[in-house]
Amino acid sequence: MPTTQPTLLVTDRLTLRPIEPGDADAFAAMNADPAVMEHFTTGPLDRAASDSMLAKMREQHLRDGYGLAAVERTTDGAFLGFTGIHRHHWYPDDVEIGWRLAPHAWGHGYASEAATAWITHAFGELRLPRLISITISANTRSIAVMRRLGFSLWEETTHDGLDVVVYARDAA
Ligand SMILES: CC(C)(COP(=O)(O)OP(=O)(O)OC[C@H]1O[C@@H](n2cnc3c(N)ncnc32)[C@H](O)[C@@H]1OP(=O)(O)O)[C@@H](O)C(=O)NCCC(=O)NCCS
Repeated sequence: MPTTQPTLLVTDRLTLRPIEPGDADAFAAMNADPAVMEHFTTGPLDRAASDSMLAKMREQHLRDGYGLAAVERTTDGAFLGFTGIHRHHWYPDDVEIGWRLAPHAWGHGYASEAATAWITHAFGELRLPRLISITISANTRSIAVMRRLGFSLWEETTHDGLDVVVYARDAA
């Protein structure tokens, strides 16, 4: 399944590429925003935690050929956040799709546009049988993206003391 080249995807408005050190300031600003991090147990991230997350995302993307990738608006090169696919330690046999955008990029369809390209890549090139997406029931914006993309509720469960909802979509 892994490819040797990191995936680069292009949509009508977006370029999806490995996150890179030059994104660190915009990435940290997004991760420090309480509105963005409202539904994460970590809360807002400090700069060290954000930089560490960036390094891990980049390493995984370059290693696996896919990952949680930077979302760049093609017209002006603005860093909007990330969308992509990766393996989540709660579900080692599955691949999860996820997204996080800076608030100025919400409400434009960017997360759905980027995720659609990743779904096409996952079910096409990578031939994955299905994708999952994990969140908490209060994260209605994220659940709305899942539903928009054709995901439906697969299970409600608890991991590490956190009640989560897991949505899934089969390749067929
Ligand atoms: C979850 C998140 C990525 C959703 O972003 P989003 O912009 O609402 O999602 P979409 O890309 O699907 O955009 C849909 C919205 O854009 C609007 N839109 C505007 N132009 C559009 C276009 N050309 N195409 C599609 N939708 C468009 C839609 O009407 C919809 O608006 P609404 O929210 O008022 O109904 C964002 O809220 C976020 O980053 N949250 C914080 C991080 C987080 O919780 N991540 C998920 C963890 S599980």
